[in-house]
Amino acid sequence: MLKQTTPYQKQIFVCTNDNKGEKPSCGDHQGEAIFKELRRIAKEKGLHPTIRVAQAKCLGQCNIGTNIMVYPDNLWYSGVRPEDVAALADKYLKESK
Ligand code: FES
Repeated sequence: MLKQTTPYQKQIFVCTNDNKGEKPSCGDHQGEAIFKELRRIAKEKGLHPTIRVAQAKCLGQCNIGTNIMVYPDNLWYSGVRPEDVAALADKYLKESK
């Protein structure tokens, strides 16, 4: 086992789980579309994978999706909707100084 510092400056985990309406999930609120758009913007800005937008398969808070975790900031966003992507991108998808 190798222990090392994280290879990423930041990781943004977007829940893309979709329970297809059988029970609440981030899929009810376009989690996958939110993930894809954040990933696209990160790539377009040349930030990926230094700032890595990753998809998660359920973050355990399915009733309040779409959920996003941001590390190392230790922040949690819930109720994220596609119209929130631009603000999240402005906040997190930028070079750190
Ligand atoms: S489906 Fe997203 S937190 Fe469970």
